[in-house]
Amino acid sequence: MNMTKKRQRRIVVLSGDGIGPEIMKEALKVLEISGKRHDLRYELKVGFIGGAACDRFGVPFPEETKRLCVESDAVLLGSVGGSKWDNLPYEKRPEIGGLLDLRKTLKLYANIRPLIFYQELKEISPLSPSIINKGVDLVIVRELAGGIYFGQPKSLSADEGLDTMIYKREEVRRIATLAFQLASSRRKKVTSVDKANVLSSSMLWRRVVSEVALEFPGIEIRHMYVDNAAMQMILNPHQFDVILTTNLFGDILSDESAAISGSLGMLPSVSLGKANHLYEPAGGSAPDIAGKGIANPVAMILCIALMLDHSFGMQDASKEIFYSVGQIIKQGYRTRDIVSVNQKPVTTRAMGDAVCEFLFKL
Ligand code: IPM
Ligand code: MN
Repeated sequence: MNMTKKRQRRIVVLSGDGIGPEIMKEALKVLEISGKRHDLRYELKVGFIGGAACDRFGVPFPEETKRLCVESDAVLLGSVGGSKWDNLPYEKRPEIGGLLDLRKTLKLYANIRPLIFYQELKEISPLSPSIINKGVDLVIVRELAGGIYFGQPKSLSADEGLDTMIYKREEVRRIATLAFQLASSRRKKVTSVDKANVLSSSMLWRRVVSEVALEFPGIEIRHMYVDNAAMQMILNPHQFDVILTTNLFGDILSDESAAISGSLGMLPSVSLGKANHLYEPAGGSAPDIAGKGIANPVAMILCIALMLDHSFGMQDASKEIFYSVGQIIKQGYRTRDIVSVNQKPVTTRAMGDAVCEFLFKL
């Protein structure tokens, strides 16, 4: 047995708000089974973040949670936010003081959102069969540490709201290099999405991406304006392999990509940091369905698969989870967000159980 695998991994669990705790529970069941199958030794440390932390400690990202995250090998995050905390001051809002501060603390610079399209869910995709039948297999590489989310100055008064969209050469270079490396192991196509016909930050973005492209002669590079990219994703998603884009555009396009797969509840993501990585579903806290036991746990379960792959180098274990999810969908298990006519939805828990059972019997 490989020694690195034997080391005890510290996994921090931040369930957060809304459906976070429900889907996390299912994901941890899958982790337990996978861990046993592959002799993964790990300990779970539970932390508070977002609205849950505001209610308990008065702040969305308590020092204790920060310490746990910094000292961890990987962080699993459910989701943060909800209308209950929407009127808090800017810095205290779960999204800003919680999630964005967490991203900053762990220096998470790249958010990778792979769109996994299941043929069985074709019917519920809003795209017509003639488009979807060509197949969709794309991944969004979103810059996560810069751009308009973090640019200074930033201010809000009664009469003015100000955000700054800024990119530095090194930030673009870092994320572009990652996207090209990722494309090398895929279909070798990078589409860089910007708004270089208007924005200075995009003009720099395009220039630097073109420079990085020269270092990867085997990879095809294409530049596309974001308005066109949003349209192309609907008209012909088949054309994309790796989509490389800025923080804001990546946020928008990744929700659009999730809709193609049928539901936001299906899209996992990994945010890569300097030392450790964070895993979170791309969908939000979905307060409208929270606590009802009907949320789709697939995105969170697939986050476990991504963690085993990216943080622990356990590719086989990761593939098994992707495979099990695919198979139970094939068998007809559907939460309410992905049922088609004449299908009976199962609960969050039943969906998780189905994945666990399949994985257990492999
Ligand atoms: C996401 C979310 C976050 C973002 C919010 C909750 C701050 O929409 O992870 O896509 O905008 O990055
Ligand atoms: Mn988003």
